[in-house]
Amino acid sequence: MWSPFKVLVFALVAACSFTPVHVLEFCTDRDCPSHDNTASNSQLSPNTFRSRWNISVSNLIQDLDRFRVSCKKLIEAFPIDVVDGNFARSVKNCIFSKSIPTPLKGQLRLAAASKEVIEGILDLDVAVTQSDDFLHYASGGRLPPGSIPLAHRYGGYQFGYWAGQLGDGRAHSLGQYTNRKGEVWELQLKGSGKTPYSRSGDGRAVIRSSVREFLCSEAMHFLGVPTSRAASLIVSDEPVTRDQFYDGNVKTERGAVVLRLARSWFRIGSLEILSQSGEIDLLRKLLIFVIDEHFPSISSDDPDKYLVFYSTVVNETAHLIAQWMSIGFAHGVCNTDNFSLLSITIDYGPFGFMESYSPNFVPNTSDDEGRYSIGAQADVGLFNLQKLLVALSPVLSKQQESKAEHILNGYVDIYHKRIHQLFKAKLGLLEEEEDDGYLIAFLLKMMEDTQSDFTMAFRQLSEVSAQRLQDRDFTQLWALEDLSSHKLFPDWLSVYQLRLIRQQNDSDLDRQQRMRNVNPRYVLRNWMVESAISKAEMNDFSEVELLHHILSFPFVTQVTAEEAGYASRPPVWAKRLKVSCSS
Ligand SMILES: *[C@@H]1O[C@H](CO)[C@@H](O)[C@H](O)[C@H]1NC(C)=O
Ligand SMILES: *[C@@H]1O[C@H](CO)[C@@H](O)[C@H](O)[C@H]1NC(C)=O
Ligand SMILES: *[C@@H]1O[C@H](CO)[C@@H](O)[C@H](O)[C@H]1NC(C)=O
Ligand SMILES: *[C@@H]1O[C@H](CO)[C@@H](O)[C@H](O)[C@H]1NC(C)=O
Ligand SMILES: *[C@@H]1O[C@H](CO)[C@@H](O)[C@H](O)[C@H]1NC(C)=O
Repeated sequence: MWSPFKVLVFALVAACSFTPVHVLEFCTDRDCPSHDNTASNSQLSPNTFRSRWNISVSNLIQDLDRFRVSCKKLIEAFPIDVVDGNFARSVKNCIFSKSIPTPLKGQLRLAAASKEVIEGILDLDVAVTQSDDFLHYASGGRLPPGSIPLAHRYGGYQFGYWAGQLGDGRAHSLGQYTNRKGEVWELQLKGSGKTPYSRSGDGRAVIRSSVREFLCSEAMHFLGVPTSRAASLIVSDEPVTRDQFYDGNVKTERGAVVLRLARSWFRIGSLEILSQSGEIDLLRKLLIFVIDEHFPSISSDDPDKYLVFYSTVVNETAHLIAQWMSIGFAHGVCNTDNFSLLSITIDYGPFGFMESYSPNFVPNTSDDEGRYSIGAQADVGLFNLQKLLVALSPVLSKQQESKAEHILNGYVDIYHKRIHQLFKAKLGLLEEEEDDGYLIAFLLKMMEDTQSDFTMAFRQLSEVSAQRLQDRDFTQLWALEDLSSHKLFPDWLSVYQLRLIRQQNDSDLDRQQRMRNVNPRYVLRNWMVESAISKAEMNDFSEVELLHHILSFPFVTQVTAEEAGYASRPPVWAKRLKVSCSS
């Protein structure tokens, strides 16, 4: 049967070299975070943080010396690099190297802290972030009790080619923290100095890229996307030189450290390096560790455990990328070393949120080929999963390997189903009708033709009543105004309206509410973060804090955000912005 949706999807990915997979995502009512409507309370000043859980402050750790991490599990499970010292070298037969962070120089300042993470994950009273001790602990100047800082050895395919040994070149894992909920989190500093994996790098991260990672990882969490988290951002006076656009224009910036957390930082590249260098016993050991720690539903006695693991990663990666697409998020460097085995978003570099809808949107302005354009992400995910299979093949039987290939073939389908689900939710569609795919594809095509704002077009569809849609009254709904300039818009609209009318038991208010819960009003647009960065570079962190607060409630209209123009048509200068790529 002729399906315009399929055809369109093909057209959009024609430039890609793999099986055509494509498009955008959303989140169902169930997996979206619940949105605390009281948060929209306009009285909240940007300085007010709200915890969303009820905990009595007295349960929180108020004294940093009582905060302990443990490296026992990681150190006992694996051999550690026999060589010491933070000099660049090729490392063999281990998973980690011990590596002491290099303290940042000059005055340290707390630029941002996430109360949600500090209290909700680390069980610390957020007041401790105001202490000098915290500044040192969170920037590598002092180690928390129990910490044996480690740099992880991994490899990866970068931009399509095997790049050999990569590893944590400027990140240190401090250890694991088991919180009162029983969750285990691995704490990591980024920008904390050289390690054996620094290659020619200086081990530092600049304020610019650190503000971006801090804000975006937290924003992604509140958008309901699996991601690493950020606890704090410390900036220093230490000069760091960077060629921001790789154009020979070297600039002195300042060093910063993000304290970030994930359940695990293992990547596809963690397995690849072992496989590539023939360290198969260690490969098996790491796999068993990851499965035991992070895939509790897989039994260690299961003779097919690696296969089940692979199948889980394939499924969850497809889901993750579909989710990225549904909010217009482009990661920017989808190399195998930047893809988590737990299918969470990690390594925020030259990412970007798409503004005008375009499958060719590339956040990294130096990526001329568009390898990591938003429309190519699903294909790159497939490429990376293929590489994961290659890495696993030494521990799979021939028969398991062919089953694994079969599983990989299912990726496209899983992805398409998820995308379809997510976009249906973005449009408020219930049940399933034959032409739903067409309705979605038609809309995206009009968005592309009219260069409508992706985030706001969906958001405004969530905020407009059926009556106003009927009347095509889009006063002040700038993204819908743009969209409705398309000559086929009236046709699409009438199909959409009829589709909505056929939804029994659905009221227009319910539809709007459902849609508002999946279509964010605020995402971290480049122009927003650039402005916060310029201020942060002058030690004014107010805009970082404002953005952090607003993006903690992305689905809720907030007065401060409206005043700042975060839901308005982007300023003209935003179009000329280049994403700073070096970090
Ligand atoms: C949460 O906090 C509110 C206000 O302090 C209190 O009334 C309520 O009982 C608390 N709920 C729980 C479950 O502790
Ligand atoms: C695939 O992953 C999603 C997202 O984590 C999960 O909800 C779903 O149950 C998984 N499906 C299978 C078959 O494991
Ligand atoms: C992610 O990929 C980029 C580009 O290959 C690389 O420079 C960077 O080191 C990776 N990030 C991490 C933390 O490994
Ligand atoms: C951006 O793309 C270029 C070209 O592919 C690549 O060399 C560069 O490393 C990328 N930037 C980052 C931060 O990954
Ligand atoms: C609509 O609601 C009625 C009464 O609650 C129920 O019997 C019916 O099954 C519902 N229809 C749909 C399509 O959900």
